[in-house]
Amino acid sequence: MRCDGKTVLVIGAGSGIGRSTVEVFAENGAQAIVAADINADGAEETVNRVVGTGANCVARPVDITDIDATRSLIDNVVHEYGQLDALVSTVGWTDISFFAEETPEYWRKVLDLNLFAAFTLVHAALPHMSSRKTGSIVLTSSDAGKVGTMGETVYAAAKAGIIGFVKSIARETARDNIRVNAVSPGPTDTPLLQGQMDDMVVERMVKAVPMKRIGTPREQANVAVFLASDASSFITGQTISVSGGLTMSS
Ligand SMILES: NC(=O)c1ccc[n+]([C@@H]2O[C@H](COP(=O)([O-])OP(=O)(O)OC[C@H]3O[C@@H](n4cnc5c(N)ncnc54)[C@H](O)[C@@H]3O)[C@@H](O)[C@H]2O)c1
Repeated sequence: MRCDGKTVLVIGAGSGIGRSTVEVFAENGAQAIVAADINADGAEETVNRVVGTGANCVARPVDITDIDATRSLIDNVVHEYGQLDALVSTVGWTDISFFAEETPEYWRKVLDLNLFAAFTLVHAALPHMSSRKTGSIVLTSSDAGKVGTMGETVYAAAKAGIIGFVKSIARETARDNIRVNAVSPGPTDTPLLQGQMDDMVVERMVKAVPMKRIGTPREQANVAVFLASDASSFITGQTISVSGGLTMSS
């Protein structure tokens, strides 16, 4: 899990799992951490939380649905630090609604944020990683993409798309020693979950989880940093569920 000497970029760093990911990178000695988010204040708050660890961490605003802004962010990180060793994106969002009542505009928004933006990120990072023949990319799927969730149909489709994307891009990039994996959270105690679900729904979710609780952002972040670090050096193309057994696969 140690990340000494590594320059890492965390997108979605202003809240929830992304914020914890920055904290875990800082605790594991990452040399430089860029904490990016559309919510610039949130990203700044994350940076303030790790100041005490002595980590070299800076906040950067970015909207990853803006292709040019995303490319600029990644190019600037490489320009500033000379390298990009790991890219982690935890960005994701959905509303809860029935598919029959949704609009194509809503589908487009959910797909753009949860799937298309991941293509942009990976496309922008690859040339830098390929030229150094090293790199680790960690995206965020969801167990909703593995088993489906009522009220999150298009989100589940997008998150399932991440699983297929990770498997395929990992095959293309392995020759350049670039690993691509994803974390697949189950219900996790973050502002996203708190904003979406009332206590009754959470209680029902907990019943479906063999470990009978929801996860913490740190439990997700630990796996993201493991996948970003050299500790997972022979793992690629995987989407690892962190969900207390909600989904199990061989
Ligand atoms: N919390 C859960 O229960 C849960 C379950 C399954 C999957 N997930 C997935 O885990 C990931 C993290 O979720 P979380 O619970 O930490 O959510 P969160 O809402 O707490 O954090 C998401 C962050 O992404 C940022 N963001 C949103 N749009 C952005 C954009 N266009 N550009 C840059 N940043 C943007 C937000 O500002 C926020 O800081 C998401 O991909 C989510 O779909 C979460």
